[in-house]
Amino acid sequence: MSEPAVLVTGGSRGIGRAIAVELAGLGLPVLVNYAKDESAAQEALDALRRVGVRAEAMRADVSASGEVDAMLREIKHMGLWVQVLVNNAGITRDGLLPLMSDSAWESVIGTNLGGVFHCTRGVMRTMIPKKRGVIVNIASISGIRGHAGQANYSAAKAGVIAMTRSLARELGPFNIRVNAVAPGFIKTDLLQQLGANTEVHSQLETIRDQMIPFGRFGDAHEVAKVVRFLASDDASYVNGHTLVVDGGLSV
Ligand SMILES: NC(=O)c1ccc[n+]([C@@H]2O[C@H](COP(=O)([O-])OP(=O)(O)OC[C@H]3O[C@@H](n4cnc5c(N)ncnc54)[C@H](OP(=O)(O)O)[C@@H]3O)[C@@H](O)[C@H]2O)c1
Repeated sequence: MSEPAVLVTGGSRGIGRAIAVELAGLGLPVLVNYAKDESAAQEALDALRRVGVRAEAMRADVSASGEVDAMLREIKHMGLWVQVLVNNAGITRDGLLPLMSDSAWESVIGTNLGGVFHCTRGVMRTMIPKKRGVIVNIASISGIRGHAGQANYSAAKAGVIAMTRSLARELGPFNIRVNAVAPGFIKTDLLQQLGANTEVHSQLETIRDQMIPFGRFGDAHEVAKVVRFLASDDASYVNGHTLVVDGGLSV
């Protein structure tokens, strides 16, 4: 008999780590996927074990279907199945479109959209026969509003939102819910990386001071708590929805 578990892609740092720690409250083992940074994954495991849940690190590049399939086979060998999947792994490689390289386009689409495809396809195959499961996709307000210099990222995130709606219809009959969260600007390494460019840094300050009603960026745990709601039975009749968590930036 296999045991249900939570899998958070990109769960080693930033929003993903906060989600992993928050979802530890569900009482299931938590699997932390990451791509490269093993020490960050180890820190996430330490945080999870401190709150008393079984936690394992799973290295796999979500943009590579073979790596995702191998990770899911390993999860099965561990005697676990993914009952709660959070597709969080994501990257940015910003640039104006005329200057955008094929690799900037392909890596962002491949990770942010392809990763959701690979992981969701794999876990669905186990969720469907069990008629049980919850999927939460981390999109972005970039996938709703669009941001200059983020055509690749916006396209990927809009794709995630559209995929969330399609899958809600496809999986609803199997008692599997699929929702998305669209964060605004959240203080993580990803935001810091964006702000490393002086021009973008000053644009971010303008957005924070003039466009976000709270006058501040969000914290990762403010996204994680919304994910926990969507992953829990409290959201049992919420399906195909994208919940914006941006402090009012896009109202
Ligand atoms: N921060 C924001 O303002 C913001 C706003 C809207 C949406 N989001 C979305 O929220 C999610 C998390 O963002 P974040 O700010 O927390 O990012 P982050 O701090 O840069 O962390 C990214 C995480 O994703 C993992 N990752 C990256 N590429 C991967 C791949 N190919 N396969 C598996 N894991 C991979 C990283 O692992 P390694 O370190 O091992 O590579 C890390 O755990 C992303 O989907 C992002 O688009 C963020």
